[in-house]
Amino acid sequence: SWTTGNVIDEQVAAIREQVGDKRAICGLSGGVDSAVAAALVQKAIGSQLTCVYVDHGLMRKGETEQVEKDFVAATGVQLKVVDAEERFLKALAGVSDPEEKRKIIGREFIRVFEQAQAEIIADEGPAVEFLVQGTLYPDVVESGGGTGTANIKSHHNVGGLPEDLEFQLIEPLRKLFKDEVRMVGQELGLPEEIVQRQPFPGPGLGIRIVGDVTKERLDLLREADAIAREELTAAGLDREIWQCPVVLLADVRSVGVQGDGRTYGHPIVLRPVSSEDAMTADWSRLPYDVLAKISTRITNEVRDVNRVVVDVTSKPPGTIEWE
Ligand code: XMP
Repeated sequence: SWTTGNVIDEQVAAIREQVGDKRAICGLSGGVDSAVAAALVQKAIGSQLTCVYVDHGLMRKGETEQVEKDFVAATGVQLKVVDAEERFLKALAGVSDPEEKRKIIGREFIRVFEQAQAEIIADEGPAVEFLVQGTLYPDVVESGGGTGTANIKSHHNVGGLPEDLEFQLIEPLRKLFKDEVRMVGQELGLPEEIVQRQPFPGPGLGIRIVGDVTKERLDLLREADAIAREELTAAGLDREIWQCPVVLLADVRSVGVQGDGRTYGHPIVLRPVSSEDAMTADWSRLPYDVLAKISTRITNEVRDVNRVVVDVTSKPPGTIEWE
């Protein structure tokens, strides 16, 4: 019968058999899938695995630290963190078109990841032959049930790597659905904050700034997002809502008043949605007192933001993200 224990035992044995005394690498995105895949492979082959995490500077507050500290503490994995903030911000400078932003972020991500791979291979010798991917069953089905190079989220993770890459793939989650992956992660001892994580797009906060992306705007959005997340968690709403993008309308200003003075600041949009699979979604009817708390805190605590609005559009016609 299906138990997480059986799945883990089976996969650990299969991975050991497959890898032997060779080495593997794994890209971590901060999301659930890659974290659980890495933890499973780590359990199987320990120090023969090296993980790579590309910090593109578009992460939310505390996210990189969570991977660096909590994930490493829970798994003991060898982690190579690449700080690529400057590179990404430079590539994104002056770009406000959503599709262009996505393409730039995807391209830069792959370049940085490949560079890190090359460094690991140079350090560890030529025996790095395996690449771990957090491909899930729905990904396999949606990509035509192929032999595994296609990963749906190819715009930001290693699924977008060139086909001539000389790696064999390890995909220990290929038969699992998201809820099963969470169960396996829990059984492997991963912290709740990683296992129960809500979806977050690979291009990160870069596609939550309407307008071009700058460090200053990212810092501002990071603050607003952290406040919203904190209050939603405090209100016990994390499981109820699918995710709540927080969006900065950087190209919009409106007039406000604070103390004795006029302000001319940016609006922040809250986009709380409920969904089963992100294909369709409804806007979440959040309690007014929670919205009030978030609004008060954001306008008080975040410089240059003087208005908070709630997005009440379902998907379709809106998408979950604004870009
Ligand atoms: P949309 O905005 O298309 O989003 O309604 C549907 C779901 O996908 C997430 N999303 C992404 N996830 N890379 C990802 O890994 C991406 O480029 C990306 N774009 C959107 C979004 O957060 C929502 O859960």
